[in-house]
Amino acid sequence: MTPIPPLRLGLNIDHVATIRNARGGDAPDPVRAALMAIECGADGITAHLREDRRHIRDEDMARLKLEIAKPLNFEMAATTEMLGIALRVKPYAVCLVPENRAERTTEGGLDVIGGHNHLKPFIEELKHAGIRVSLFIEADAAPIEMAARLGAPVIEMHTGSYCEAVQHGNHALAERELLRLKQGARRAAELGIEVHAGHGLDFYTAEQVSAIPEIMELNIGHFLVGEAIYVGLPVAVRQMRAAMVAGRAKAVS
Ligand code: PXP
Repeated sequence: MTPIPPLRLGLNIDHVATIRNARGGDAPDPVRAALMAIECGADGITAHLREDRRHIRDEDMARLKLEIAKPLNFEMAATTEMLGIALRVKPYAVCLVPENRAERTTEGGLDVIGGHNHLKPFIEELKHAGIRVSLFIEADAAPIEMAARLGAPVIEMHTGSYCEAVQHGNHALAERELLRLKQGARRAAELGIEVHAGHGLDFYTAEQVSAIPEIMELNIGHFLVGEAIYVGLPVAVRQMRAAMVAGRAKAVS
């Protein structure tokens, strides 16, 4: 049996900024939340600088890069403006995501097949700058194989459909979606791609997904920021870590 690698927890702090922006001032500060989460065991921080700056702002990204001692994962759309900002900020990683102005959150995976020619130079330029590139895609063989052809070292599998099925109590669909994630993770690992996962995860779904041995990192935001309202961010992060450890203990390589 090969040893199962440890699983990292990335906290997505976008929604701390959403609350701050509701009043237009400086509080709550997403950088303070990031520092606190790291102190409590988060392995990295994810932040999405959207084109409309609805939560994270340019100065948040710059401060995160300066002030946190763990990897910064810069989520962005593949646009010339965002590329310029990423090359200036130089985060540890960039996760390329689809972006649609009207959406409430990132809705589906990146269209790596139709978008191949558009994405390729972005991936190359980011890699050339020493930034680890991840593509946020659906857990299907075709986009995973295209991610490999595009030279992406990392993919993040979209867990939204699985989490929604669980939330709606649709057990049959949830099982199918979990199987899709398992098969996707296996295919990506065969192709030498590091596998991350995220979107919509809570304690239960994070525990289930943590049992997939090829997954190396979970990126979780909305649920943890919401949970922090009840129990505080340190407790929420520690409880999430405990769920991930419990799930990982069920992983079989
Ligand atoms: N990963 C990616 C690529 C995302 O776009 C998001 C949402 O911004 C997340 C993870 C976190 O999703 P959630 O906030 O639902 O936990």
